[in-house]
Amino acid sequence: MNICLNDKIFGTLRDLVDSENVQAYVIGGWVRDCLLKRDHAEKDIDIVVIGSGIDIARKASRKFGPGIKVSVFKSFGTAMFRSGEYEIEFVGARKESYSRGSRKPVVENGTLEDDQKRRDFTINALAISLNKASYGELLDPFGGISDIENKIIRTPLDPDKTFSDDPLRMMRAIRFANQLHFAIEETTFASIKKNAERIKIVSPERVVTELNKIILCSQPSRGFNLLDKSGLLKLILPAIDNLKGVETKEGKAHKDNFHHSIKVLDNISKKTDNLWLRWAALLHDIAKPVTKKYVPVTGWSFHGHEYVGSKMIPDIFRKLKLPLNEKMKYVQKLVDLHLRPIVLSQDEVTDSAIRRLLYEAGDAIDDLMILCEADITSKNEAKKTKHLENFKIVRNKLKEIEEKDAMRNFQPPVDGSEIIDAFGIKPGREVGIIKNTIREAIIEGLIPNEHEAARKLMFEKGRELGLKPVDQSI
Ligand code: CTP
Repeated sequence: MNICLNDKIFGTLRDLVDSENVQAYVIGGWVRDCLLKRDHAEKDIDIVVIGSGIDIARKASRKFGPGIKVSVFKSFGTAMFRSGEYEIEFVGARKESYSRGSRKPVVENGTLEDDQKRRDFTINALAISLNKASYGELLDPFGGISDIENKIIRTPLDPDKTFSDDPLRMMRAIRFANQLHFAIEETTFASIKKNAERIKIVSPERVVTELNKIILCSQPSRGFNLLDKSGLLKLILPAIDNLKGVETKEGKAHKDNFHHSIKVLDNISKKTDNLWLRWAALLHDIAKPVTKKYVPVTGWSFHGHEYVGSKMIPDIFRKLKLPLNEKMKYVQKLVDLHLRPIVLSQDEVTDSAIRRLLYEAGDAIDDLMILCEADITSKNEAKKTKHLENFKIVRNKLKEIEEKDAMRNFQPPVDGSEIIDAFGIKPGREVGIIKNTIREAIIEGLIPNEHEAARKLMFEKGRELGLKPVDQSI
């Protein structure tokens, strides 16, 4: 028996397809990952049926238990259901399935080989029989096994045809190459270069799904270099493409910010699986091209690139249909603050500068420190060690102030309603001024982060603004 069919559910499926007298095969990612001995993060099983996939899905769902909901996608000829940790999708074997210019499928029944042919890569076209007589037999008409052994991404058909059927496959090729540490076969890659422009007809949602998978690889720079070399990068992420290149003036060159950014992304990927922290690493220098200036004697400057960069992020996220919620705000915050710990590590670190950083970064402070350390890409080991040492000092100081002053997620010890009640005023400008004064005084260390001291300052500032306390005795 094939080790890929060890899970109990395959026995149930075998009995069903035999009693229904239809041929069925496990195909796609399940087979590929099993042969690669790769852990299935998600237990997605794709079954191709010679006949109606929808019909078999319905019957199978009943075998797995009463009340299982089957989702049917009639125009694609597919149906799926969940059973425990598995998500099982059934599809009727198809011939031609996509029409040019869109992803709208034209479904026509076909043989197993017809179906394998129209899949993206040879390694994803491997099928294993579920029928009793041939149970566990592997069907590999396009050399998928040998491509797995040789670590190659190749299309089963002429790549121009495979990619024009669904141009997202160009990104999938790069994603699989990156995830699996495979190489893209020469003609397949040449075809991606040739057809890159066709990525424009794919929805941003589908593109970003693949992009996120590349960003989540252990060494995403490989994927980004392939995106660049294929010509896809400038089409899907023009702002990242813009980071490329080195300019030299009066013998002074700045670094290539594309290579720097993807190196930072690699560095951070060793520390975190947080997709949004990885996005922040990729985008941290995004405004370098627009802020670049050559200043005689001192050299290249990118003044304010962290702030300008944070302002560029909503547009990038909107175009890619990434979330515009607190995830984006978190990325913006990290980009905006990414130089602050560096500045602190170079200066004599004052308590107030540390308090201000803690206040502004809030819960993102630990991630900010991870980003800053990842940002050190210098090849000069002595320099690197020195930076890391300095960051250690900043980290210790952060910890010390955090324990002493509780500045993270700062809640003012006197809030707006207390100010309103104390002076019998309506919400307005004065309330804001008093609140700011208290916050600034705490950050600057003029008063402790405590209620009594803050209340005292509230009355002082209120008087200065011409307000009278409700309680005349104060
Ligand atoms: N497939 C395809 N073209 C696509 C998407 C998918 O030919 N654009 C086929 C491949 O045979 C693939 C299968 O459908 O193996 C299932 O697709 P999907 O679930 O997206 O990918 P997996 O191969 O399962 O891999 P992963 O879970 O890593 O995305």
